[in-house]
Amino acid sequence: MSEIPALSTAPTTAWARIREDVQTIFERDPAARSIWDILLAYPGFHALQLYRVSHWLWTHGFLTLGRFISHVGRFLTGIEIHPGATIGRRFFIDHGMAVVIGETAEIGDDVTIYQGVTLGGTSTHPGKRHPTIGDSVQIFSGAKVLGPITVGRHSRIGAGSVLVMSVPDHSTVVGIPGKVVRTGGLRHTETGKAVIDLDSSDLPDPVTRALGALLERIEVLEKRLGESTAAPASEPAPPILRKASGEDH
Ligand SMILES: CC(C)(COP(=O)(O)OP(=O)(O)OC[C@H]1O[C@@H](n2cnc3c(N)ncnc32)[C@H](O)[C@@H]1OP(=O)(O)O)[C@@H](O)C(=O)NCCC(=O)NCCS
Repeated sequence: MSEIPALSTAPTTAWARIREDVQTIFERDPAARSIWDILLAYPGFHALQLYRVSHWLWTHGFLTLGRFISHVGRFLTGIEIHPGATIGRRFFIDHGMAVVIGETAEIGDDVTIYQGVTLGGTSTHPGKRHPTIGDSVQIFSGAKVLGPITVGRHSRIGAGSVLVMSVPDHSTVVGIPGKVVRTGGLRHTETGKAVIDLDSSDLPDPVTRALGALLERIEVLEKRLGESTAAPASEPAPPILRKASGEDH
């Protein structure tokens, strides 16, 4: 495999950006074997280069030409990126086909998305109507992220999910509508409470174990407390109270 040295400084030229894009694909796709693979056979790479041209045209007032270049990119790659969208560094679209990125979408650095992902709008309002995607987010195949919502940094949106509300950093979202099932190392229970997942295949450290046990214990105690405060008033008072009130003789 041809090696491209990692860039230590921010790329300032178009050529440096292209080198960074190639390096990004090497880092995130084990199937990439050579530079020629990437230059010739990665639609995500081609779509990104054409997006850069269309975005430049769009932001310099050549709106129709920007749209046209975007359309050419869609025709060649099956990836539709509106020229008005804002995309950060080291963005990678794997496989491509049927990706749609709307006009007011904002994408941070180091984001990866797969085929069939939509960053779409939910209204015809001309203002901000597409999602904002934080740094280092992964959006898996077929996921739809809809509306002017924010996906927190380092989050993962599961394959086939439909996400319509904002989620915090480090979330894992699955399902329709998309629900947060993990935040960082914490698994979310049916009630929405976060507990540390000790069933994970990662080796748990003792502190995590202790915290997990504490959180589960708190949940049990809260449940008991809720039950006892909801108990009917007619229940007999404990013996000590009965004595004080003179009930016991
Ligand atoms: C979102 C994802 C990254 C989560 O991975 P993870 O952190 O290892 O999570 P887990 O596998 O432990 O799953 C957590 C829970 O969500 C469920 N789940 C995971 N992915 C799901 C999905 N896409 N849709 C619905 N439920 C899903 C699991 O069944 C599990 O439920 P449980 O707690 O009731 O058992 C992963 O499941 C996923 O969707 N990967 C997609 C990969 C992909 O698109 N590859 C294509 C490359 S071309």
